[in-house]
Amino acid sequence: MVKIIYVEHNGARHPVDVPEGENLMEGAVQNNVPGIDGDCGGNAACATCHCYIPEQWEALTGERSELEESMLELADTAKPNSRLACQIKAAPALDGMEVLMPATQH
Ligand code: FES
Repeated sequence: MVKIIYVEHNGARHPVDVPEGENLMEGAVQNNVPGIDGDCGGNAACATCHCYIPEQWEALTGERSELEESMLELADTAKPNSRLACQIKAAPALDGMEVLMPATQH
């Protein structure tokens, strides 16, 4: 299990043990974490799992794919550290990582 701490825009924290290999959208949705919707089921086709990764963890989450980049361009709250939670797999190196959520998912 990989401990991921989902942080809502209002600061509410939701620590979740996500099984290794599961993506971070699934980890949130399966544990009823508010703020990540995952409408497309994890296919990088909806951007309702938009999140921000703190700088110290960014390199460990891997590169954005072209598809992910194009979806994030549609999110009006996107920032340089934006990611789609469905495109990040839980791995031991991410244990303890905070995932910050935008105020709303579009
Ligand atoms: Fe749709 Fe991540 S769940 S883009």
